[in-house]
Amino acid sequence: YLSKSGLVGYSSPSNIAIIKYWGKTGVQIPLNPSLSFSLKHSVTETSVSYVLNPGQKDLCFNFYFEEGKSKKFEQKMEVFFNRVIDKFLWLHHYKLKIESKNTFPHSSGIASSASSYAAMALCLAKIHQQITGIKLSMEEISNIARLGSGSACRSVFGAWNTWGKFDMENSSNLNALNISQYVHPSFADIKDTILIVSKDKKEVSSTTGHQLMESHPYKTGRIQQANEHMLKLMEVLKNGDWNSFIEVAETEALSLHGLMMSSSPGYTLLLPNSLQIVQRIRKFREQNKIPVCFTIDAGPNIHVLYSASNKKQVREFIQKELLPYCENKSFINDELGSGPTEI
Ligand code: PMV
Repeated sequence: YLSKSGLVGYSSPSNIAIIKYWGKTGVQIPLNPSLSFSLKHSVTETSVSYVLNPGQKDLCFNFYFEEGKSKKFEQKMEVFFNRVIDKFLWLHHYKLKIESKNTFPHSSGIASSASSYAAMALCLAKIHQQITGIKLSMEEISNIARLGSGSACRSVFGAWNTWGKFDMENSSNLNALNISQYVHPSFADIKDTILIVSKDKKEVSSTTGHQLMESHPYKTGRIQQANEHMLKLMEVLKNGDWNSFIEVAETEALSLHGLMMSSSPGYTLLLPNSLQIVQRIRKFREQNKIPVCFTIDAGPNIHVLYSASNKKQVREFIQKELLPYCENKSFINDELGSGPTEI
């Protein structure tokens, strides 16, 4: 062992998918390819200290989340560590202390699993390098993050990323692929205002949602739709066509929720206010000819997407017409970010 003790830390972003990963087989192998961009301000900061612990036989770690020790997160981390322990054999002999915090509110509806597991994977890779001298590639680190939460594999990179095998060279079900070099400048400064319609914990978890896709009556059609959207969106991102971007983004968001409603048992995560916002965005777009659209994750909150050049008008519209539909008028102004940083 090259290093007996040390301290590493990473800040990693959450990401928002335009083409949604929904349904998986095995350990986070996606049923369909997905495409997202990493956020700038919604991040998880994780630090890990490690020390050689002679005589230790098994995993040994303590997890501190924000102010306190969190049993729930510790259990999830244990599942994750057991999935990656064969890649990091030193985990059998080192004691870890993990501290983690999010810069965004816990109940904001922003998935913290993507940013948390991306930060954790980066920390483990750095420790691996310090202990063994072996530097893992970013693809390998993305693969490790995927074992925590599927969407996390897209959070180890900044800006625009795909995950899942589709008709593009080097695309893989095991790790994300950064596609920023293909993206037109008009999508390089995309803004995302997250409207918090409800802070309540969702009634059906994403894990259950993914499982329900296994026997979903529209499974084949959904896989086909996502693959077609990938090809279309790759073209759109290259040529900077906001109108086609809007079409794909909104179809994907509604399709995701349509799949939830039509699974067995079916369920709804959207709330009446979510639909009010959706309709108002469409009306504003038609009346003002300003390219602004929505996307929605597995919850009731609405992400409003627009380019930096329309920031002023869109924010005025949000302030006046959309915030009344949010819980305590809560929102987060976020935007495309450049990816994880070492802290
Ligand atoms: O990574 P998970 O298991 O939390 O699933 C994420 C699913 C969506 O957020 C709805 C879509 C996506 O691609 O991020």
